[in-house]
Amino acid sequence: MINSWLDDIKKCRSLQKLDDIRVALLGKNGELTNMFATMKTVPNEEKKQFAMKLNEHKSSVTKALENKKSQLLAIQTKKKLKASAIDVSRYTQPATQGAMHPITKTMNRIIDYFTALNYEVIDGPLVEDDFHNFAALNLPVYHPARDMQDTFYFNDGKLLRTHTSPVQIRTMLSQKPPIRMIAPGKVFRRDFDITHTPMFNQVEGLVVQHGQDISFANLKHTMQEFVKAMFGDVKVRFRPSFFPFTEPSAEVDISCLFCQQKGCQVCSQTGWLEVLGCGVVDQNVFKEVGLENCSGFAFGLGVERFAMLLHQIPDLRSLFQTDVRLLRQFR
Ligand code: PHE
Repeated sequence: MINSWLDDIKKCRSLQKLDDIRVALLGKNGELTNMFATMKTVPNEEKKQFAMKLNEHKSSVTKALENKKSQLLAIQTKKKLKASAIDVSRYTQPATQGAMHPITKTMNRIIDYFTALNYEVIDGPLVEDDFHNFAALNLPVYHPARDMQDTFYFNDGKLLRTHTSPVQIRTMLSQKPPIRMIAPGKVFRRDFDITHTPMFNQVEGLVVQHGQDISFANLKHTMQEFVKAMFGDVKVRFRPSFFPFTEPSAEVDISCLFCQQKGCQVCSQTGWLEVLGCGVVDQNVFKEVGLENCSGFAFGLGVERFAMLLHQIPDLRSLFQTDVRLLRQFR
């Protein structure tokens, strides 16, 4: 009897069935419970023996039930864990995926190009003073850029830098040549129409060394190589220009990327696109920063213009409208 009970328990495979067995044996009307009730019919001299046997059975059945229960519970837990486990090796596309802004992307490309040539990346303040932004760069007192119409001024005479060229001055005042640096960052002008925003980004470049060995030829080569690395196999042309802080100065044009120089709207039918300004550092600038017998070249470019040409973005303002649909195109 006891052995068949224990056998039933041993063979049991579910918690529900195990409980059924428990009730059938130890419940109110259970087989074992009922046997305790038959005690009174047992002759007195056998009672003690009988009771001992019953108690023994009861405790071995109870123990067997408990063991089986914890065993079945462990199996159940294991099954549950297995069913709900996360498979970290499975990959699915995230619901929203970010993208780098085309200005950042372009900026990084330019920075990567020059840092590979050992140029140092230098940061400068956005709030500048007249000396660094204008005077030290050889801009005459009555230069139109100094006008209230063109520059954001603060009440104390400070201003938002109108170009990254003041970083040239700060670098030459704090470092001894040889200098080979670029200064990427925001600049501000009081301008707002289809092709101008009050804030935009520039990258400045400056190379200075002692002696008179740096010439326009070095500048020309550097710009040619840079522009080709950016825009691919284009024609490059240097047009004489003027900046107060460089002499001689030039503007660099590339053959139009959109019409193969047949003439289109982007290049205003000229076949050429202007991409940057540059020149040989004016000796007056070296005087302002106390450098003697030095030569160098400098350049400055608009990052938005590069981004628009590289990614064929027709409207400058779309770069600043924080419309996520623009970014989606750059994933
Ligand atoms: N600072 C000039 C501008 O903002 C660009 C420039 C930089 C030109 C360095 C020559 C040399 O237009």
